[in-house]
Amino acid sequence: MATNGWSSRIDSVSLANVAQWIGTQNLAASTQSPEHAITMPPQCYTDSAFYEFEKEAIFSKEWLCLGRVEQVPNVGDYFTITMVDEPLLVVRGADEQIRVMSAVCRHRAMIVTAPAAVDPETWLDSKTVPDTSGSCTQFKCPYHYWTYDLDGQLIGAPEMHRTPGFNDKDVRLPQLPVEIWNGFIFTNFDADAPPLAPRLSRLEEKFANWHLDQLVDPEPVWVRDLPWNWKVMHENSMEAYHADRLHAGLHAMLPASHVMPTVYEPGDAAVITSIRAAHIDYSVNPTYKPLRPIIEGLSQEDRWVSTFALIPPILLIGVMTDSVLYRMVIPTGPESIHIRFGLLIPQHHLRPRRYKQIRKMEAEAVRIIGAQDWAADSGVQKGLRSRFAPRSRLSWQEEVLVSMNRWLVERYTAAAERVAAGPGPSVQVVELATGR
Ligand code: FES
Repeated sequence: MATNGWSSRIDSVSLANVAQWIGTQNLAASTQSPEHAITMPPQCYTDSAFYEFEKEAIFSKEWLCLGRVEQVPNVGDYFTITMVDEPLLVVRGADEQIRVMSAVCRHRAMIVTAPAAVDPETWLDSKTVPDTSGSCTQFKCPYHYWTYDLDGQLIGAPEMHRTPGFNDKDVRLPQLPVEIWNGFIFTNFDADAPPLAPRLSRLEEKFANWHLDQLVDPEPVWVRDLPWNWKVMHENSMEAYHADRLHAGLHAMLPASHVMPTVYEPGDAAVITSIRAAHIDYSVNPTYKPLRPIIEGLSQEDRWVSTFALIPPILLIGVMTDSVLYRMVIPTGPESIHIRFGLLIPQHHLRPRRYKQIRKMEAEAVRIIGAQDWAADSGVQKGLRSRFAPRSRLSWQEEVLVSMNRWLVERYTAAAERVAAGPGPSVQVVELATGR
Protein backbone atom coordinates (compact mmCIF):
# COMPACT_ATOMS: atom_id res chain seq x y z
CA MET A 1 0.00 0.00 0.00
CA ALA A 2 1.51 3.36 -0.98
CA THR A 3 1.02 5.52 2.06
CA ASN A 4 2.73 8.27 3.95
CA GLY A 5 1.84 6.49 7.20
CA TRP A 6 0.35 8.13 10.26
CA SER A 7 3.62 8.51 12.11
CA SER A 8 5.26 10.66 9.49
CA ARG A 9 2.40 13.12 9.77
CA ILE A 10 2.42 13.33 13.54
CA ASP A 11 4.81 15.47 15.50
CA SER A 12 7.23 12.78 16.69
CA VAL A 13 7.98 14.71 19.88
CA SER A 14 4.28 14.67 20.80
CA LEU A 15 4.06 10.98 19.99
CA ALA A 16 7.05 10.14 22.15
CA ASN A 17 5.74 12.36 24.93
CA VAL A 18 2.45 10.50 25.00
CA ALA A 19 4.23 7.14 24.89
CA GLN A 20 6.26 8.15 27.94
CA TRP A 21 3.24 9.66 29.67
CA ILE A 22 1.44 6.31 29.29
CA GLY A 23 4.23 4.70 31.27
CA THR A 24 3.46 6.99 34.20
CA GLN A 25 -0.28 6.42 34.35
CA ASN A 26 -0.64 2.88 35.73
CA LEU A 27 -3.02 1.84 32.99
CA ALA A 28 -2.92 -1.66 34.49
CA ALA A 29 -5.17 -0.27 37.24
CA SER A 30 -7.91 -0.02 34.60
CA THR A 31 -7.51 -3.62 33.42
CA GLN A 32 -7.48 -5.61 36.65
CA SER A 33 -10.46 -7.56 37.96
CA PRO A 34 -13.69 -5.58 37.66
CA GLU A 35 -14.10 -5.42 41.46
CA HIS A 36 -10.83 -3.51 41.72
CA ALA A 37 -10.45 -1.74 38.37
CA ILE A 38 -10.63 2.02 37.95
CA THR A 39 -11.54 4.06 34.90
CA MET A 40 -8.96 5.22 32.38
CA PRO A 41 -7.14 8.58 32.78
CA PRO A 42 -9.40 11.47 31.70
CA GLN A 43 -6.75 12.77 29.28
CA CYS A 44 -7.32 9.68 27.12
CA TYR A 45 -10.67 11.23 26.20
CA THR A 46 -9.75 14.88 25.82
CA ASP A 47 -6.14 15.48 24.84
CA SER A 48 -5.21 16.26 21.25
CA ALA A 49 -1.72 14.71 21.52
CA PHE A 50 -3.25 11.54 22.93
CA TYR A 51 -5.71 11.45 20.04
CA GLU A 52 -2.81 11.66 17.60
CA PHE A 53 -1.20 8.80 19.49
CA GLU A 54 -4.43 6.79 19.13
CA LYS A 55 -4.27 7.23 15.38
CA GLU A 56 -0.96 5.39 15.49
CA ALA A 57 -1.94 2.89 18.18
CA ILE A 58 -5.43 2.03 16.97
CA PHE A 59 -6.73 3.64 13.80
CA SER A 60 -3.68 2.73 11.70
CA LYS A 61 -3.68 -0.87 12.95
CA GLU A 62 -7.23 -2.10 13.43
CA TRP A 63 -10.00 -3.16 11.06
CA LEU A 64 -12.27 -0.18 10.48
CA CYS A 65 -15.90 -0.61 9.44
CA LEU A 66 -16.81 1.54 6.43
CA GLY A 67 -20.41 0.51 5.80
CA ARG A 68 -22.60 -2.28 4.41
CA VAL A 69 -22.36 -4.31 1.22
CA GLU A 70 -25.91 -3.31 0.26
CA GLN A 71 -24.58 0.22 -0.32
CA VAL A 72 -22.79 -1.10 -3.43
CA PRO A 73 -25.03 -3.84 -4.85
CA ASN A 74 -23.99 -3.52 -8.51
CA VAL A 75 -20.79 -3.20 -10.53
CA GLY A 76 -19.72 0.45 -10.52
CA ASP A 77 -21.63 1.38 -7.36
CA TYR A 78 -19.46 3.38 -5.00
CA PHE A 79 -19.43 5.56 -1.94
CA THR A 80 -16.77 7.64 -0.28
CA ILE A 81 -16.16 7.93 3.42
CA THR A 82 -13.66 10.01 5.34
CA MET A 83 -12.18 7.75 7.97
CA VAL A 84 -10.16 9.60 10.62
CA ASP A 85 -9.15 12.29 8.08
CA GLU A 86 -8.43 9.77 5.32
CA PRO A 87 -10.72 10.06 2.24
CA LEU A 88 -11.55 6.54 1.06
CA LEU A 89 -13.43 5.18 -1.92
CA VAL A 90 -15.43 1.94 -1.68
CA VAL A 91 -16.46 0.48 -5.03
CA ARG A 92 -17.78 -2.75 -6.51
CA GLY A 93 -15.42 -3.57 -9.33
CA ALA A 94 -16.01 -5.14 -12.73
CA ASP A 95 -15.30 -8.56 -11.18
CA GLU A 96 -18.05 -7.83 -8.60
CA GLN A 97 -15.49 -7.68 -5.78
CA ILE A 98 -15.65 -4.78 -3.32
CA ARG A 99 -12.49 -2.69 -3.28
CA VAL A 100 -11.31 0.05 -0.94
CA MET A 101 -8.82 2.60 -2.19
CA SER A 102 -7.65 6.09 -1.51
CA ALA A 103 -9.97 8.73 -2.95
CA VAL A 104 -7.04 11.14 -3.30
CA CYS A 105 -6.11 11.88 -6.91
CA ARG A 106 -2.51 10.95 -7.76
CA HIS A 107 -2.07 14.27 -9.56
CA ARG A 108 -2.51 17.11 -7.09
CA ALA A 109 -4.54 15.44 -4.35
CA MET A 110 -8.09 16.48 -5.30
CA ILE A 111 -10.75 14.01 -4.14
CA VAL A 112 -11.54 12.11 -7.33
CA THR A 113 -15.24 11.76 -6.53
CA ALA A 114 -15.73 15.32 -5.32
CA PRO A 115 -18.34 17.40 -7.09
CA ALA A 116 -17.01 19.92 -9.62
CA ALA A 117 -18.77 22.70 -7.71
CA VAL A 118 -20.17 23.08 -4.22
CA ASP A 119 -23.48 24.66 -3.46
CA PRO A 120 -22.83 27.76 -1.31
CA GLU A 121 -25.24 26.62 1.39
CA THR A 122 -23.58 23.21 1.62
CA TRP A 123 -20.25 24.95 1.72
CA LEU A 124 -21.20 27.18 4.61
CA ASP A 125 -22.52 24.17 6.47
CA SER A 126 -19.59 21.79 6.08
CA LYS A 127 -16.54 23.79 4.93
CA THR A 128 -15.35 20.75 3.00
CA VAL A 129 -16.36 18.80 -0.07
CA PRO A 130 -18.94 16.20 0.89
CA ASP A 131 -18.62 12.45 0.78
CA THR A 132 -20.58 11.14 -2.16
CA SER A 133 -22.10 7.97 -3.59
CA GLY A 134 -23.32 6.85 -6.98
CA SER A 135 -22.64 4.52 -9.85
CA CYS A 136 -20.13 4.93 -12.66
CA THR A 137 -17.85 3.10 -15.07
CA GLN A 138 -14.80 5.19 -14.26
CA PHE A 139 -13.72 7.96 -11.89
CA LYS A 140 -12.85 11.24 -13.58
CA CYS A 141 -11.21 13.71 -11.23
CA PRO A 142 -13.08 16.98 -11.78
CA TYR A 143 -9.97 19.14 -11.41
CA HIS A 144 -7.85 18.21 -14.48
CA TYR A 145 -9.71 15.10 -15.68
CA TRP A 146 -7.24 12.40 -14.75
CA THR A 147 -9.41 9.31 -15.08
CA TYR A 148 -9.24 5.98 -13.23
CA ASP A 149 -10.97 2.68 -13.87
CA LEU A 150 -12.96 0.88 -11.16
CA ASP A 151 -9.74 -0.79 -9.96
CA GLY A 152 -8.10 2.60 -9.41
CA GLN A 153 -5.77 2.26 -12.41
CA LEU A 154 -5.12 5.54 -14.23
CA ILE A 155 -6.49 5.21 -17.77
CA GLY A 156 -6.32 8.80 -18.97
CA ALA A 157 -4.47 12.04 -18.17
CA PRO A 158 -4.93 14.97 -20.57
CA GLU A 159 -1.90 16.82 -21.93
CA MET A 160 0.70 14.73 -20.15
CA HIS A 161 2.38 13.67 -23.40
CA ARG A 162 5.07 16.36 -23.02
CA THR A 163 6.00 15.11 -19.55
CA PRO A 164 9.00 12.80 -20.13
CA GLY A 165 8.71 9.33 -18.66
CA PHE A 166 5.10 9.77 -17.53
CA ASN A 167 3.15 6.57 -18.07
CA ASP A 168 -0.51 6.03 -17.12
CA LYS A 169 0.27 2.43 -16.27
CA ASP A 170 2.54 3.49 -13.41
CA VAL A 171 -0.23 5.38 -11.64
CA ARG A 172 -2.89 3.79 -9.49
CA LEU A 173 -4.99 4.88 -6.52
CA PRO A 174 -3.49 3.23 -3.39
CA GLN A 175 -5.38 0.04 -2.52
CA LEU A 176 -6.30 -1.04 1.01
CA PRO A 177 -7.12 -4.50 2.35
CA VAL A 178 -10.81 -5.43 2.43
CA GLU A 179 -12.63 -7.88 4.62
CA ILE A 180 -16.37 -8.50 4.49
CA TRP A 181 -17.85 -9.84 7.71
CA ASN A 182 -21.59 -10.50 7.89
CA GLY A 183 -22.36 -7.80 5.34
CA PHE A 184 -20.13 -5.18 6.97
CA ILE A 185 -17.21 -3.81 4.92
CA PHE A 186 -13.94 -3.41 6.82
CA THR A 187 -10.58 -2.02 5.81
CA ASN A 188 -7.23 -1.62 7.49
CA PHE A 189 -4.40 0.87 6.95
CA ASP A 190 -1.98 -1.86 8.02
CA ALA A 191 -1.47 -4.16 5.04
CA ASP A 192 0.02 -6.78 7.38
CA ALA A 193 -2.85 -6.82 9.88
CA PRO A 194 -4.04 -10.34 10.78
CA PRO A 195 -7.48 -11.17 9.36
CA LEU A 196 -10.50 -10.05 11.35
CA ALA A 197 -12.97 -12.95 11.06
CA PRO A 198 -10.96 -15.59 12.98
CA ARG A 199 -10.85 -13.19 15.95
CA LEU A 200 -14.64 -12.79 15.86
CA SER A 201 -15.44 -16.49 16.25
CA ARG A 202 -17.16 -16.10 19.65
CA LEU A 203 -19.32 -13.31 18.29
CA GLU A 204 -20.05 -15.26 15.12
CA GLU A 205 -21.47 -18.01 17.28
CA LYS A 206 -23.69 -15.64 19.28
CA PHE A 207 -25.06 -13.88 16.18
CA ALA A 208 -25.31 -16.96 13.95
CA ASN A 209 -29.11 -17.21 13.92
CA TRP A 210 -29.60 -13.58 12.91
CA HIS A 211 -27.79 -14.17 9.59
CA LEU A 212 -26.58 -10.57 9.55
CA ASP A 213 -25.28 -10.94 6.00
CA GLN A 214 -28.84 -11.47 4.77
CA LEU A 215 -30.30 -8.41 6.51
CA VAL A 216 -30.46 -4.98 4.94
CA ASP A 217 -30.36 -1.44 6.22
CA PRO A 218 -32.96 0.53 4.26
CA GLU A 219 -32.42 3.97 5.81
CA PRO A 220 -29.02 4.62 7.40
CA VAL A 221 -28.74 7.98 9.16
CA TRP A 222 -25.65 10.16 9.59
CA VAL A 223 -25.29 12.59 12.48
CA ARG A 224 -22.23 14.79 12.29
CA ASP A 225 -20.06 16.75 14.67
CA LEU A 226 -21.20 15.36 17.99
CA PRO A 227 -18.96 16.95 20.63
CA TRP A 228 -17.55 14.02 22.58
CA ASN A 229 -14.78 11.45 22.38
CA TRP A 230 -15.36 8.23 20.45
CA LYS A 231 -14.79 6.07 23.54
CA VAL A 232 -17.31 8.04 25.61
CA MET A 233 -20.01 7.07 23.15
CA HIS A 234 -19.05 3.39 23.03
CA GLU A 235 -18.81 3.13 26.81
CA ASN A 236 -22.28 4.59 27.22
CA SER A 237 -23.71 2.10 24.72
CA MET A 238 -22.00 -0.93 26.21
CA GLU A 239 -22.48 -0.57 29.97
CA ALA A 240 -25.83 -1.56 31.46
CA TYR A 241 -25.47 0.34 34.75
CA HIS A 242 -27.18 3.46 33.44
CA ALA A 243 -30.05 1.64 31.73
CA ASP A 244 -32.19 1.45 34.88
CA ARG A 245 -31.28 4.99 35.95
CA LEU A 246 -30.79 7.40 33.05
CA HIS A 247 -33.41 5.50 31.02
CA ALA A 248 -35.62 4.63 34.02
CA GLY A 249 -38.75 2.94 32.73
CA LEU A 250 -37.78 3.09 29.07
CA HIS A 251 -35.30 0.22 29.30
CA ALA A 252 -37.21 -2.04 31.66
CA MET A 253 -37.35 -4.84 29.07
CA LEU A 254 -33.55 -5.17 29.45
CA PRO A 255 -32.81 -4.52 33.15
CA ALA A 256 -29.27 -3.75 34.25
CA SER A 257 -29.43 -6.42 36.95
CA HIS A 258 -29.64 -9.07 34.20
CA VAL A 259 -26.37 -8.09 32.50
CA MET A 260 -24.03 -10.95 31.54
CA PRO A 261 -20.74 -9.65 30.12
CA THR A 262 -18.53 -12.03 28.18
CA VAL A 263 -14.99 -12.12 29.53
CA TYR A 264 -12.64 -10.51 27.03
CA GLU A 265 -9.73 -12.72 25.96
CA PRO A 266 -6.53 -11.10 24.66
CA GLY A 267 -6.61 -11.20 20.88
CA ASP A 268 -10.41 -10.97 20.63
CA ALA A 269 -11.56 -8.46 18.04
CA ALA A 270 -14.85 -7.82 19.83
CA VAL A 271 -16.01 -6.80 23.28
CA ILE A 272 -19.31 -8.50 24.05
CA THR A 273 -22.04 -8.03 26.65
CA SER A 274 -25.48 -9.58 26.93
CA ILE A 275 -28.63 -8.89 28.94
CA ARG A 276 -31.32 -11.45 29.70
CA ALA A 277 -34.63 -9.74 28.97
CA ALA A 278 -37.50 -9.34 31.43
CA HIS A 279 -39.61 -11.44 29.08
CA ILE A 280 -39.25 -13.44 25.91
CA ASP A 281 -39.58 -11.57 22.60
CA TYR A 282 -38.53 -8.22 23.99
CA SER A 283 -37.75 -5.17 21.92
CA VAL A 284 -36.54 -1.66 22.73
CA ASN A 285 -39.56 0.57 22.17
CA PRO A 286 -42.38 1.86 24.39
CA THR A 287 -44.37 -1.40 23.97
CA TYR A 288 -41.32 -3.54 25.02
CA LYS A 289 -42.48 -5.97 22.33
CA PRO A 290 -41.37 -6.43 18.73
CA LEU A 291 -43.13 -4.23 16.19
CA ARG A 292 -42.07 -6.49 13.35
CA PRO A 293 -42.19 -10.26 12.90
CA ILE A 294 -39.55 -12.13 14.94
CA ILE A 295 -36.53 -12.91 12.79
CA GLU A 296 -36.95 -16.44 11.52
CA GLY A 297 -34.68 -19.10 12.99
CA LEU A 298 -33.95 -17.52 16.38
CA SER A 299 -33.61 -20.03 19.22
CA GLN A 300 -35.45 -19.73 22.56
CA GLU A 301 -32.23 -18.35 24.05
CA ASP A 302 -31.92 -15.79 21.24
CA ARG A 303 -35.46 -14.61 21.99
CA TRP A 304 -34.57 -14.04 25.65
CA VAL A 305 -31.10 -12.54 25.41
CA SER A 306 -29.98 -9.31 23.77
CA THR A 307 -26.30 -9.11 22.91
CA PHE A 308 -24.33 -5.96 22.22
CA ALA A 309 -20.93 -6.26 20.60
CA LEU A 310 -18.33 -3.61 20.00
CA ILE A 311 -15.88 -4.34 17.19
CA PRO A 312 -13.54 -1.52 18.10
CA PRO A 313 -12.81 1.09 17.19
CA ILE A 314 -15.76 1.85 14.89
CA LEU A 315 -18.65 -0.63 14.91
CA LEU A 316 -21.26 -1.45 17.54
CA ILE A 317 -23.95 -4.08 16.89
CA GLY A 318 -26.96 -4.86 19.10
CA VAL A 319 -29.35 -7.69 18.31
CA MET A 320 -33.08 -7.56 19.09
CA THR A 321 -35.67 -10.21 18.31
CA ASP A 322 -37.07 -8.38 15.29
CA SER A 323 -34.10 -6.32 14.08
CA VAL A 324 -30.44 -5.52 14.59
CA LEU A 325 -29.15 -2.08 15.54
CA TYR A 326 -25.74 -0.99 14.39
CA ARG A 327 -23.74 2.19 14.74
CA MET A 328 -20.45 3.41 13.36
CA VAL A 329 -18.54 6.01 15.39
CA ILE A 330 -15.93 7.91 13.36
CA PRO A 331 -13.64 10.26 15.26
CA THR A 332 -12.96 13.66 13.74
CA GLY A 333 -10.87 14.91 16.67
CA PRO A 334 -10.22 14.16 20.34
CA GLU A 335 -13.63 15.55 21.26
CA SER A 336 -15.71 15.16 18.12
CA ILE A 337 -17.24 12.36 16.11
CA HIS A 338 -19.52 11.61 13.21
CA ILE A 339 -21.88 8.68 13.64
CA ARG A 340 -23.86 6.59 11.24
CA PHE A 341 -26.57 4.35 12.60
CA GLY A 342 -29.05 1.99 11.08
CA LEU A 343 -31.46 -0.85 11.63
CA LEU A 344 -30.97 -4.16 9.85
CA ILE A 345 -34.06 -6.17 8.98
CA PRO A 346 -34.87 -9.04 6.60
CA GLN A 347 -35.45 -7.80 3.05
CA HIS A 348 -38.97 -9.23 2.97
CA HIS A 349 -39.94 -7.27 6.09
CA LEU A 350 -39.53 -4.08 4.04
CA ARG A 351 -42.75 -4.77 2.21
CA PRO A 352 -45.52 -4.84 4.86
CA ARG A 353 -47.98 -1.99 4.50
CA ARG A 354 -47.28 -0.78 8.03
CA TYR A 355 -43.53 -0.42 7.34
CA LYS A 356 -43.49 3.38 7.43
CA GLN A 357 -45.62 3.55 10.58
CA ILE A 358 -43.41 0.98 12.34
CA ARG A 359 -40.31 2.81 11.26
CA LYS A 360 -41.71 6.03 12.72
CA MET A 361 -42.43 4.36 16.08
CA GLU A 362 -38.93 2.85 16.19
CA ALA A 363 -37.36 6.19 15.32
CA GLU A 364 -39.30 7.88 18.13
CA ALA A 365 -38.12 5.26 20.65
CA VAL A 366 -34.53 5.74 19.52
CA ARG A 367 -34.94 9.51 19.66
CA ILE A 368 -36.13 9.52 23.29
CA ILE A 369 -33.45 7.14 24.58
CA GLY A 370 -30.83 8.77 22.35
CA ALA A 371 -31.62 12.21 23.76
CA GLN A 372 -30.82 10.91 27.24
CA ASP A 373 -27.64 9.13 26.11
CA TRP A 374 -26.39 12.15 24.18
CA ALA A 375 -26.99 14.43 27.17
CA ALA A 376 -24.92 11.99 29.25
CA ASP A 377 -22.17 11.77 26.60
CA SER A 378 -21.97 15.53 26.39
CA GLY A 379 -22.01 15.96 30.17
CA VAL A 380 -19.32 13.31 30.65
CA GLN A 381 -17.09 14.94 28.04
CA LYS A 382 -17.42 18.27 29.81
CA GLY A 383 -16.61 16.63 33.14
CA LEU A 384 -13.59 14.81 31.73
CA ARG A 385 -12.03 18.16 30.88
CA SER A 386 -12.19 19.22 34.53
CA ARG A 387 -9.14 19.27 36.79
CA PHE A 388 -11.37 17.30 39.16
CA ALA A 389 -12.20 14.52 36.67
CA PRO A 390 -11.91 11.21 38.54
CA ARG A 391 -10.44 7.80 37.92
CA SER A 392 -13.34 6.01 39.57
CA ARG A 393 -14.17 2.52 40.86
CA LEU A 394 -16.89 0.65 38.96
CA SER A 395 -20.17 -1.15 39.66
CA TRP A 396 -20.42 -4.84 38.75
CA GLN A 397 -22.97 -3.71 36.13
CA GLU A 398 -20.13 -1.86 34.36
CA GLU A 399 -17.85 -4.88 34.04
CA VAL A 400 -17.78 -4.57 30.26
CA LEU A 401 -15.84 -1.31 30.65
CA VAL A 402 -12.92 -3.34 31.96
CA SER A 403 -13.04 -5.49 28.81
CA MET A 404 -12.93 -2.31 26.75
CA ASN A 405 -10.01 -1.01 28.81
CA ARG A 406 -8.14 -4.28 28.25
CA TRP A 407 -8.65 -3.99 24.49
CA LEU A 408 -7.40 -0.40 24.56
CA VAL A 409 -4.46 -0.88 26.88
CA GLU A 410 -3.15 -3.81 24.83
CA ARG A 411 -2.92 -1.45 21.88
CA TYR A 412 -1.69 1.63 23.74
CA THR A 413 1.08 -0.38 25.34
CA ALA A 414 2.15 -2.02 22.07
CA ALA A 415 2.23 1.37 20.31
CA ALA A 416 4.19 2.98 23.17
CA GLU A 417 6.75 0.17 22.86
CA ARG A 418 6.98 0.71 19.09
CA VAL A 419 7.50 4.43 19.60
CA ALA A 420 10.11 3.82 22.29
CA ALA A 421 11.95 1.35 20.08
CA GLY A 422 11.97 3.63 17.07
CA PRO A 423 14.39 6.44 16.35
CA GLY A 424 13.28 9.69 17.86
CA PRO A 425 14.35 12.70 19.83
CA SER A 426 14.99 12.53 23.54
CA VAL A 427 11.94 13.98 25.25
CA GLN A 428 10.69 14.68 28.70
CA VAL A 429 7.44 13.44 30.15
CA VAL A 430 4.92 16.26 30.14
CA GLU A 431 1.53 16.77 31.63
CA LEU A 432 -1.09 16.50 28.88
CA ALA A 433 -3.03 19.66 28.35
CA THR A 434 -6.23 18.99 30.24
CA GLY A 435 -5.74 21.05 33.33
CA ARG A 436 -4.61 18.11 35.45
FE1 FES B 1 -6.94 15.27 -10.04
FE2 FES B 1 -5.46 17.13 -11.11
S1 FES B 1 -5.87 16.82 -9.04
S2 FES B 1 -6.59 15.61 -12.09
